[in-house]
Amino acid sequence: MSWTLLVLSVIISTAIANVEKTIFTAPAAVTLPNVRPNLQDLRLTSLTPVEHTLRADLPVRFPTAQHPRGEQSWFLLSGLEQGQRYEVRICWPATQPTEFWLDVHPLTSVFDSPDLISALADYSESLPETKAVVAEDAAAGASDTAPASVLFLQIQAAADYFTLNKTLMDEPPDVKAEIILDPYILNVLPRSLVPTGIYLIACTVGAWFVASLLVGWLTSIESPKPHKE
Ligand SMILES: *[C@@H]1O[C@H](CO)[C@@H](O)[C@H](O)[C@H]1NC(C)=O
Repeated sequence: MSWTLLVLSVIISTAIANVEKTIFTAPAAVTLPNVRPNLQDLRLTSLTPVEHTLRADLPVRFPTAQHPRGEQSWFLLSGLEQGQRYEVRICWPATQPTEFWLDVHPLTSVFDSPDLISALADYSESLPETKAVVAEDAAAGASDTAPASVLFLQIQAAADYFTLNKTLMDEPPDVKAEIILDPYILNVLPRSLVPTGIYLIACTVGAWFVASLLVGWLTSIESPKPHKE
């Protein structure tokens, strides 16, 4: 009986493990100079409290000495409410084992750090031209002259599996991820915690139900009824 539950708990915890998150407090609103080049020119996709969920194919690579955290992607978190606590979550399918690092940076820390600014520039230059039109609208709020609370979101993604296929090792496919910006209610609980809690309870009850069925089935195999003559 115990091994059945062990297997089930491993399966359940693996499913939950495919979420990585970072918690932060929105910085003071700053007035961004309305001169070019500005934030829009970076062509980053924005997440805002309104447009809070984003599905993205994130580039990934196997870790190397030069890139121990794989490939980088950058996004803009804009329209934040100063002093409000948020979390950013990333969810990805279990079929694409990946290690993610999420970091939020105030604008000034990025512009003051040669490593970050060059990583951001590299990513920005790698964006396809077609993205510019979409991102321009989305980022518009961030570079208005009105004060805005804005952060950069840096996502680093390293493939976390091994294959003998050299093509795949050199160019692992993009990871289909979902990125969610979630404000905390009263700065204590993520807004989405309530439905998630209900979902997890339903999953747990379901898992226990399946476990008890399995246990019943295994018990009946282990102790077969005497054969009728
Ligand atoms: C390696 O993976 C690529 C991409 O999935 C595939 O097209 C190719 O057939 C694979 N090669 C071998 C030898 O399995």
